[in-house]
Amino acid sequence: MNLKSALIISWSNTGNTQKVAFAIKEGLEEAGLKVDLKKPQEAAEVDFFGYDLVCIGSPSIEWQPAKPIADLLKAKLNLHRSQGKIKPCAPKVEGKNALIFCTYSGPHTGIEEATPAGKTMRQYFEHFGFNVVAEWYIPSEFHGREDLSTLGMLGDIRGKPTAKDLVKIKKKACQLVKAFGE
Ligand SMILES: Cc1cc2nc3c(=O)[nH]c(=O)nc-3n(C[C@H](O)[C@H](O)[C@H](O)COP(=O)(O)O)c2cc1C
Repeated sequence: MNLKSALIISWSNTGNTQKVAFAIKEGLEEAGLKVDLKKPQEAAEVDFFGYDLVCIGSPSIEWQPAKPIADLLKAKLNLHRSQGKIKPCAPKVEGKNALIFCTYSGPHTGIEEATPAGKTMRQYFEHFGFNVVAEWYIPSEFHGREDLSTLGMLGDIRGKPTAKDLVKIKKKACQLVKAFGE
């Protein structure tokens, strides 16, 4: 199956998640996809089922998705439930895929304080019947907190995601699409 269209929805307070969203967009476009990039407040009317791939990105905030992303996903769950699309055993809907990405600083317990955010976002898409292709966790600077960016579980994360990290993310996004065509 070849992917043709993608929607990226992300929320970012200090810019990390936004940088990752742009890198994913570039990678998907390089692979030939038509990509719409939106903020949660622009996505209320958007039909997730109108895309082959929906990418959803958030920072981990107290190990959960940021509120604008959580609110959007809850609203979509309610909408899809009212449309009869939320079914027992969450059968997969043909051709609908999701990619979860989460930036985090992990100062206290490392990736363990980001995976709950990623898994929560994943659960929504599994309830929608989407095939979740991956969860990406991206170590990122805790802006405004030098202590938490140097002394935490991830070590010195100042400047992350770096330009090099973003090139890798772009490549991964491009490869992900190509893997669908194989
Ligand atoms: C209020 C607040 C809570 C945070 N909670 C967590 C957390 O639970 N786990 C974590 O790994 N990082 C946490 N962070 C760090 C952010 O997830 C991280 O810096 C992220 O990359 C910020 O993304 P943004 O620049 O797109 O806003 C928190 C940051 C803030 C400001």
